[in-house]
Amino acid sequence: MRILAIETSCDETAAAVVVDGRRILSNVVASQMELHARFGGIFPEMASRQHVLCIDGVVRQALELAGLKSVSQVHALAVTCGPGLVGSLMVGVNMAKGLCLASGLPLWGVNHLAGHVYSLWLQPSPGEPVPDIRFPLVILIASGGHTDLVLMPTLGQFHLLGSTLDDAAGEAFDKVARILGLGFPGGPAIQKAAAQGQANRHELPYPLQHDTAHRFDFSFSGLKTFMLHEAQRAGLDPAAADPVTCDLAAAFQDRVAGVLMDRVADAMQTYNAVGVGLCGGVSANRQLRQEATRRCQELGATLHVPPIHLCTDNAAMIGAAAYFQAQSAPSHIEGLDLDVHARWPLDATPVTG
Ligand code: KG4
Ligand code: ZN
Repeated sequence: MRILAIETSCDETAAAVVVDGRRILSNVVASQMELHARFGGIFPEMASRQHVLCIDGVVRQALELAGLKSVSQVHALAVTCGPGLVGSLMVGVNMAKGLCLASGLPLWGVNHLAGHVYSLWLQPSPGEPVPDIRFPLVILIASGGHTDLVLMPTLGQFHLLGSTLDDAAGEAFDKVARILGLGFPGGPAIQKAAAQGQANRHELPYPLQHDTAHRFDFSFSGLKTFMLHEAQRAGLDPAAADPVTCDLAAAFQDRVAGVLMDRVADAMQTYNAVGVGLCGGVSANRQLRQEATRRCQELGATLHVPPIHLCTDNAAMIGAAAYFQAQSAPSHIEGLDLDVHARWPLDATPVTG
């Protein structure tokens, strides 16, 4: 089954053609990173306008790179309809509806978080084997907007074990990078600075350490405030490169990777997971990947992490999620009244508004 998928939930305009939820024929991502870097974060109205400008070209390119002459050569359409920025989501959803109306193809509305989860099932690159994923699986979705710990007892079932109580992990990377004057997006900038620094020169707090009521939850806002005070105390000039900046970046990255993986390891042991999946933009982080590799070796579990370009937002993952969705509920096809949802937890119905 060949699916044309569209993703515009945040600041990437993306389209892809995916076969049977696994094999990527094309995966086009038009990033707005440079546009938003000027503001140090995502500017929602500009993001929507940029999607309007790019979407047609991105979809055409995805078809072309897949070797298809027109949309009628795919079997179904898929689009992200939440969670995300409403104005951005609407551009992708309306494009998908237009294609649906013109072609008569079935349309699947996809949860962006389910997309990140199913990125684990995609073939990493042509010629490589498709991942062999066993259950129970513990999944960490760590992105700019979400930090969710999920148990997947079997394919298609999601149990949300915990979430962030305040900032998402990626959001914390972005905000701390701004405090340290490292630019946007913060994750790659902090990773780069941290490589020049030493993590043990600053003692960072450990969020929710003895809080058994939030055993599988996360909190990053206290760490962010601590970093602000530490930067002020050190008299850090965010406009100038400073060795202290690199030490602070290293300490922050170390703490975030440690906290994330402590929760994952606890969930793995509690639910006898045979595998761990990391997905979402933050799972591109080198230290998090190293920490995850070490923990999985210790606990005898298999680690699944997509290649970097499938960790950050893309449409191939939406095509994968739609395929698995279609397998479990083939009769559930969207109508032209498909709505967008700013909030939509993975294991619940969407919240409209
Ligand atoms: O999944 P994603 O592309 O978009 C959302 O759905 O939010 O994630 C973007 C987030 C940003 O906050 C970015 O700073 C973070 O992922 N990120 C990283 C790295 N690369 C991207 N965080 C830590 N280390 C990285 N190497
Ligand atoms: Zn995402």
